Amino acid sequence: MRLKLIVLILFTLYQCGSGVDKSTFKTCSQSSFCRRTRKDLPGSSKFAVLPETLKTSDNFVELDLINKANDHLFILKLEALEDNKFRVQIDEKNPLKPRHRVTDVLQDSVKSGNINVDTQDGPEIVFSWGENKAVLTNEPFRIDFYQKDVLSVSVNAKRLMRFEHIRRKSDGEPTEDPEEWEEMFGEFLDSKPNGPEAIALDFSFPQADVLFGIPQHAETFVLKSTEGDDPYRLYNLDVAYYELESKMSLYGAVPVIYGHGAERSAGVFWHNAAETWVDIWDSNKKGVSSVLDLLTEPRASEPPAARFISESGIVDAFILLGPTPLDAFKQYTDLTGSANLPQLFTLAYHQCRWNYDNSSDVMDVAANYDNYDIPLDTMWLDIEYTDEKKYFTWDLQNFPDPLAMIKNLTDSNRHLTIIIDPHYKRDDSYFFHRECEKMGYYTKNVTNKDYEGSCWPGPASYPDFFNPTVRSYYAQQFPVDKFKTTTKDVMIWNDMNEPSVFNGPEKTMPKDNIHYGGWEHRDVHNMFGHMQVMGTFQGMIERDPNQRPFILTRSHFAGSQKYAIVWMGDNTAAWGHLKNSIKMCLSEAVAGFSFCGSDVGGFFDNPEPELVERWYQTGTYTPFFRAHANQDTKRREPWLFPEKTRLVIRDAVRKRYSYLPMWYTMFYEHEKYGLPVMRPLLAHYPKDKESYRIDTQFMLHDLLLICPVMDEGATKIEVYFPSKDGQKDGDVWFDTDNFQKYDKVGYETIQVDYKKTPAYQRGGTIIPKKENIRRTSTLMKDDPYTLVVCLDKNGSSKGTLYIDDEKSYEYRKGKYIYEQFEFKDNALKNSFATTPDYDTPSTLERVIIAGLEKTPKSATIEYDGKSQELKVVSHEQAVAIENPGVNIAKEFVIKLNY
Ligand code: NOJ
Repeated sequence: MRLKLIVLILFTLYQCGSGVDKSTFKTCSQSSFCRRTRKDLPGSSKFAVLPETLKTSDNFVELDLINKANDHLFILKLEALEDNKFRVQIDEKNPLKPRHRVTDVLQDSVKSGNINVDTQDGPEIVFSWGENKAVLTNEPFRIDFYQKDVLSVSVNAKRLMRFEHIRRKSDGEPTEDPEEWEEMFGEFLDSKPNGPEAIALDFSFPQADVLFGIPQHAETFVLKSTEGDDPYRLYNLDVAYYELESKMSLYGAVPVIYGHGAERSAGVFWHNAAETWVDIWDSNKKGVSSVLDLLTEPRASEPPAARFISESGIVDAFILLGPTPLDAFKQYTDLTGSANLPQLFTLAYHQCRWNYDNSSDVMDVAANYDNYDIPLDTMWLDIEYTDEKKYFTWDLQNFPDPLAMIKNLTDSNRHLTIIIDPHYKRDDSYFFHRECEKMGYYTKNVTNKDYEGSCWPGPASYPDFFNPTVRSYYAQQFPVDKFKTTTKDVMIWNDMNEPSVFNGPEKTMPKDNIHYGGWEHRDVHNMFGHMQVMGTFQGMIERDPNQRPFILTRSHFAGSQKYAIVWMGDNTAAWGHLKNSIKMCLSEAVAGFSFCGSDVGGFFDNPEPELVERWYQTGTYTPFFRAHANQDTKRREPWLFPEKTRLVIRDAVRKRYSYLPMWYTMFYEHEKYGLPVMRPLLAHYPKDKESYRIDTQFMLHDLLLICPVMDEGATKIEVYFPSKDGQKDGDVWFDTDNFQKYDKVGYETIQVDYKKTPAYQRGGTIIPKKENIRRTSTLMKDDPYTLVVCLDKNGSSKGTLYIDDEKSYEYRKGKYIYEQFEFKDNALKNSFATTPDYDTPSTLERVIIAGLEKTPKSATIEYDGKSQELKVVSHEQAVAIENPGVNIAKEFVIKLNY
């Protein structure tokens, strides 16, 4: 009864709040390990290497490390990895019990390289591998990493390392904090059976001007100093009404950080799944900042640095030595993987709402998209489709014939995505609960009984997804002979998987809960959602081994990108949240999550039409494009707005569909090369310092510069055209609406009426598009292509196009077309990286060329030994070569005739 009441109260708060309830979540000073670690001052730690213990092998070396404050011994393992990466691991030498090491994140393909010991006499040991060098200073312990002789990352340079060895309470070792062995937060007791076991280590980036990464926070892309403030927190939580410009944790935690400066980028991946806080020291202490500085000693310039503080586990840090930003991003995805090529329809437009009430509601909404001529690929069902929030069941009152409803969608080439949460109703009449209880599949509480929390269904338990047997059991629920009310075309949304527990500490699971292998929830909290999506992925593959799964997850950790895509949870219908969607997705993208988006229109509250218009226009260019809204908001399908807004939405969605070939090619290249799809400007303009902090503009690949209008009432915006050399040398850019050319570096005021979203194609690129927009992306599969060729200052450009069946894994057997285009010397040519092994009826319908000095009289296409003259028409500030008609998979040359 009491539990039900709490659920009701918490549910009401969830629905009616308007502003984050800060009292629900800890600050650093309310967390014993963060509080005590933060008392460490730079220079305070007393770790030293014992050089005589050096043990070498081909790929790694090991040494003892001592904490001179208490003589406790540790093992330092240094491992060289291929492609400018390095791994530093520190664990206790003789722990009282093993400390947790993260599994299920790293790629199997991570390879060690040969490591050489160059010098080992004196106070330093020097190691080298490839073009890199690591200088280990014995006392005080410190490691300096050099890439091509340039110092790029220093470990423990601030001497903030802390490593609390596991102890017995009865040993009565000195305490630093009254809550080391038991911690209260509000009414919640954390029994902390292992006592204090925190670790901390600092990393300095001597070449960097800015640091970025460590999503998920509603903050600027470039990380801010945490001096005098709380550190950034990484602890997956369900934070309703989250605030902007905040270092509070949100639903995901990806512990990778990058430092970037004009000459170099480097990164650190902190491979630890426990609660983590990250302190940031930004550089800009350089130069004179006050009159006082003129009178006193000039301040030493300190490079930007970060300190990771984790509650448990070992130090396991990967050093990514770049040297370019793209190199560093790739080094990270080498370790944790990149997203699989998605089915093409998932890159199209999605419509969601909590909730569509019944089958006819779903079918009516889909039909209205047709009536209003707005493309739509996927309808979504939130929790109300289930029978009393029992996942893998249906509410057959409101959805009497799910298969008929699904067929109605799939017959019109659409899809359905349904939600499956990780909490399971404690109800003996529910098969899933009965089986999990009987088989002992639930996560255990501190007394080793099934943990019982509360979420949408009321009292609920949480399968222990860390256990492979439990994951398999969960996966077995997905095949259609088991989940009979679904088909193979139904995709999955995993929500509330931080996990969200309405009556738990900080609205999540107690840290002293026990998972598979006896590990405390404390050790693995940030991976709970990751383990669920691994199970969902497995289930979808078991359901249909040849169809690429599509999973949306709210909680995520390093590596989850291999299984699922992310969004930024419960945002608000406010202009600041629209801007935040870009900042957050940029941070996610450099942390491996390219397929990212926000609830278009905002989840909480009711957006004004202008905000909706601008959000859709921004959504055109963000990877995951889904409208979603909370249940107490007004219905807001496009046709419920005034006609002007509906038409803006229609244009935005149609524009997205025109670019689907580009999106699909970008995601193919993402899988292949591991680079982000959505990129901060510094990825391509690393020398342009002005660009570092710009997080209201972004690039798609190296193709488009997107500058969405995100201010209310804006009639103009300041667009920044970046510089290649950090000075005046820039690219040329072409407005995608009219091909107006911008050959400049710096800010330009651009007038924006309600229809305008400034987006510029970079000169030197070729983008494939499809210009006949249909109701769904699937219907456009065999349609002809348009190539948009924007010339660079030398009159040339290059591009790629990827084509396959848009759905299956056949591409992994070579069934695809990957085509390169090049325009130079007044001719456009294509070539194929591998011989095309996929039949497409699609032809080349049009070539648009922007940036030519003179309009050609005509063009000639040559293919299959034939040649044919083509009409050239002027098209805004470009020319269009009409109807080449050649099959897109054939080799051709189109020459311009003057
Ligand atoms: C929380 C999710 O963030 C939101 O998108 C969803 O609508 C609700 N849970 C209900 O499932």
